[in-house]
Amino acid sequence: MSSRCTDLPILRRDLPAGTQAEWSQVDPRILQTMREAVRQQSWPLVIWGNVGSGKTSTAALLYASWSRDDVKWFSAAEFVRVVQTARRDGQVLLPGSVNTVGEESIWRVRVDQSSLVILDDLGTRMPTDSQYEILFELIDRRAGKPLVVSTNHSPDGLANIFDERITSRLLAGTVIEFALPDRRRQQGRRFRVTERLKIANTETA
Ligand SMILES: Nc1ncnc2c1ncn2[C@@H]1O[C@H](COP(=O)(O)OP(=O)(O)O)[C@@H](O)[C@H]1O
Ligand SMILES: [Mg+2]
Repeated sequence: MSSRCTDLPILRRDLPAGTQAEWSQVDPRILQTMREAVRQQSWPLVIWGNVGSGKTSTAALLYASWSRDDVKWFSAAEFVRVVQTARRDGQVLLPGSVNTVGEESIWRVRVDQSSLVILDDLGTRMPTDSQYEILFELIDRRAGKPLVVSTNHSPDGLANIFDERITSRLLAGTVIEFALPDRRRQQGRRFRVTERLKIANTETA
């Protein structure tokens, strides 16, 4: 992401599959705070807020604008599933990839060697021990490195779902609350259909 504050960041690659967004639709205060986080290397960047407040879209824009190669995008559920499958089967086919990889390679190539990791939608459910441990390892291995986490949960909510080990690492960098309305609802179309008016019959005898 460019550090010039007057213009919008340039998109250097496609947005992650299934996302569509524009920097011009992001609140300039959010963009400025994100630029600060990048400049100060204040990681991780946690963005939290209501459903539909624009977290995934904003994270997708940061992904597409990141100035270095090797950016990785995972939904939290997908990342956990990929690692669990690699553990069970020895190999897993990563989304958008043609080759299978083992668990060791996921950690080394996808996590440690990436210039930016984005973990979308963390903590939608109470994690099992196995899920917890995988998420902990991811967050721990990215300590001090560019990591963006989006979540519906407030910092207090995260503390209830995860324990202190994850929460303290997650809250060590920049936290931005998207206190914004649900844009999906705002874009939704509303119709109201009522009973047809009865036309008085004037031909009655
Ligand atoms: N920067 C943006 N540019 C274009 N559309 C956006 C942007 N941010 C949000 N939206 C719209 O709002 C919807 C909800 O945003 P999303 O990022 O999915 O919210 P969240 O992840 O917080 O639930 C998107 O599907 C998109 O239509
Ligand atoms: Mg989302």
